Amino acid sequence: MKTIRVTASKTYDIIIGTGILETAGALMRNTVGGQIAAIVSDDTVAQLYGKKLADILAHSGYRTVSFVFPQGESSKNGQTYLSLLSFLAEEKLSRTDVIVALGGGVAGDLAGFAAATYMRGIRFVQIPTSLLAAVDSAVGGKTAINLAGGKNLAGAFYQPDAVVCDVTTLATLRPEVFRDGCAEVIKYGMIADRDLFASCEKPIDTQLETIIARCVEIKRDIVTEDEFEAGNRKLLNFGHTVGHAIELLSGYTVSHGQAVAAGMVIETRLALRLGVCTEPCLHKLVSMLERYALPVSTSYDAATLAQACLSDKKRDGTSLTMIFPREIGSCVLQDIPVGELEALLHLGLEDSV
Ligand SMILES: NC(=O)c1ccc[n+]([C@@H]2O[C@H](COP(=O)([O-])OP(=O)(O)OC[C@H]3O[C@@H](n4cnc5c(N)ncnc54)[C@H](O)[C@@H]3O)[C@@H](O)[C@H]2O)c1
Ligand SMILES: [Zn+2]
Repeated sequence: MKTIRVTASKTYDIIIGTGILETAGALMRNTVGGQIAAIVSDDTVAQLYGKKLADILAHSGYRTVSFVFPQGESSKNGQTYLSLLSFLAEEKLSRTDVIVALGGGVAGDLAGFAAATYMRGIRFVQIPTSLLAAVDSAVGGKTAINLAGGKNLAGAFYQPDAVVCDVTTLATLRPEVFRDGCAEVIKYGMIADRDLFASCEKPIDTQLETIIARCVEIKRDIVTEDEFEAGNRKLLNFGHTVGHAIELLSGYTVSHGQAVAAGMVIETRLALRLGVCTEPCLHKLVSMLERYALPVSTSYDAATLAQACLSDKKRDGTSLTMIFPREIGSCVLQDIPVGELEALLHLGLEDSV
């Protein structure tokens, strides 16, 4: 078991271990408190772990109530959010009670935004059950829902009071969902830790506790330095500028992890063309992604991708920030003028290096 302490606008622990769901009740009783625990999960996760968690929390003296929504990104919307808030009010949760997100990033983002806004902020615990949630969305305090105009357009920075990651829950993930998380793990290796990157040569699922803990430490360190994304937190967006464009253009039929994988390759090839990194860096990235059956290219052309990148909300006026690797384990932020984007993406898409 590993405990990682986060000291941001709130101080709390992220606990990662095997079989530790059993201890979630005692942990919450000791560190978070409250009388009522509202468990928020999608129908897939609720069926697998909902009753188990409710029993564990009841055993530690919580009155448990469950809010279950249909699985999938399309549930991360205003309607589900408002019905969750109404549910919390009907169940009479007070500010000292606790919302527990049990599931992947969708449950975490939705429950987190509800926790940030219900009565102007209520206690909140994350129990991530997807690899992506364990290494990324459950860490760092970003919460959000989607609007018709785009992904994550309404949200809040709201840190949880505790995160409990029981790696045994990841065993039931569909392989393609697990692989989406692998893309993010590879991303952490690229931006911050060449040893982590190298360790992915051995299957990630055989070393989950160590790898998740390392990714969480990296994100913790970046978020501690830049909680509200004024600078270095943007490093976490490596592969995401182009990745988000691919997701958007595909109407979200290409999954996040797949889009980010292709995005990392395109951004790295661009870095290579501009002399920021060397050829082995690109080749190592490509072969690592292929090892996890993740895509390393896209069929969209530079003009189409550029258009989609420019509709991303993270753009500041006349330029956007792209993240370029210098070598495996080290990346830099690079401002790209909007007018040069299409030509640069063209360089990133060229197959010959
Ligand atoms: N807040 C952040 O910082 C942050 C960071 C990255 C991603 N996100 C968000 O996270 C979301 C994606 O997360 P995700 O990939 O976990 O999506 P998800 O929550 O939809 O989970 C993916 C699928 O896996 C299933 N699942 C989850 N845990 C399972 C388990 N243990 N066993 C079997 N099935 C399981 C879910 O039912 C779902 O079908 C997106 O909405 C994205 O915007 C947020
Ligand atoms: Zn991501």
